[in-house]
Amino acid sequence: MRILAIESSCDETAAAVVEDGKKVLSSVIASQVEEHKLYGGVVPEIASRRHSEAILGVVKKALDDAGISLSQVDAIAATFAPGLIGALLVGTSFAKGLAMAANKPLIPVHHIAGHMAANYLAHPELAPPYLCLVASGSHSHIVEVCDYTKYRVLGKTHDDAAGECFDKAARVLGFPYPGGIHIDRAAKLGNAHAYELPKPKVASNPYDFSFSGLKTAVINIVHNAKQKNEEINKNDLAASFQRTVCEILSERTFLAAQNLGHKTIALAGGVSANSALREVFEKECQKRGMKLFLPPLELCGDNAAMIGCQAYYDFLAGKRADEGTNAFATFPLEESENFCKKF
Ligand code: KG4
Ligand code: ZN
Repeated sequence: MRILAIESSCDETAAAVVEDGKKVLSSVIASQVEEHKLYGGVVPEIASRRHSEAILGVVKKALDDAGISLSQVDAIAATFAPGLIGALLVGTSFAKGLAMAANKPLIPVHHIAGHMAANYLAHPELAPPYLCLVASGSHSHIVEVCDYTKYRVLGKTHDDAAGECFDKAARVLGFPYPGGIHIDRAAKLGNAHAYELPKPKVASNPYDFSFSGLKTAVINIVHNAKQKNEEINKNDLAASFQRTVCEILSERTFLAAQNLGHKTIALAGGVSANSALREVFEKECQKRGMKLFLPPLELCGDNAAMIGCQAYYDFLAGKRADEGTNAFATFPLEESENFCKKF
């Protein structure tokens, strides 16, 4: 079964053709990052307009690269939530129109489910149940993946997402957007124990996150140094910050794994490209005799191949969109299964 998938939840217009949830026949990504860089972050209206301009060309190229025509596609999929609403509406509406014109089924995919499915593409041996840490620019979730389309969110952030925290810390350190990769590089040159930073816990749930205090601590260190005309060692602060984020993410994930008896862990989302995070999880999994699945770097960030993969499992589970299907800026992952009617 060949699925043409579309992703437009943030600042990447992407389309891919994926066969049976396993084989990526094509994957095209048009990134807007250079334009958003000028503003230090994603400007929602610009994102929507660029998606609108790029989507037809990106979809055409995905079909061309796969060497097929639209009539050879069995279904069309699109990210329907969560994300920037104007951005999501471009992909969802385009997919709806295309599905109706070509008389193909339309599958709405949850973006977080898509991120997790990136691991199925790279590791066909991975199968639920397992525990997945999803860390991206807008999400920090510890998810118990019960089945390919059934999830239990064990923990999530109460404020900033891990990637957002990376980007804001990077910004105050003078790195361009998106800052995660720059912190990763600078941290390699710094002393990760130069600064002791806060690791805020959330009283109501041991698996939840709160990153805003950590972000504020980094901002305060930089501002205080500026006021006193003191130099800070950017590499040391980047390394200390990164170590703290990695400790927070790994401690809570492994606590959940231990309490729930999971022996298989996966990482997903843009932040799972972080070299220190990958190392910490590799080390901890080895120590505890757990299996670890890491997405390849090209599948960590937003792409449509992961959406095409998840769409296959959603299709098998009977998920179909209808003419009333909408896009949503927020939508709980656990409820994504019930988002659309079953035919
Ligand atoms: O998954 P993604 O592409 O988009 C969302 O769904 O949000 O994640 C983007 C986030 C950004 O915050 C970016 O700074 C972060 O992933 N990121 C990283 C690294 N590469 C990307 N964070 C830390 N280290 C990296 N190497
Ligand atoms: Zn994403």
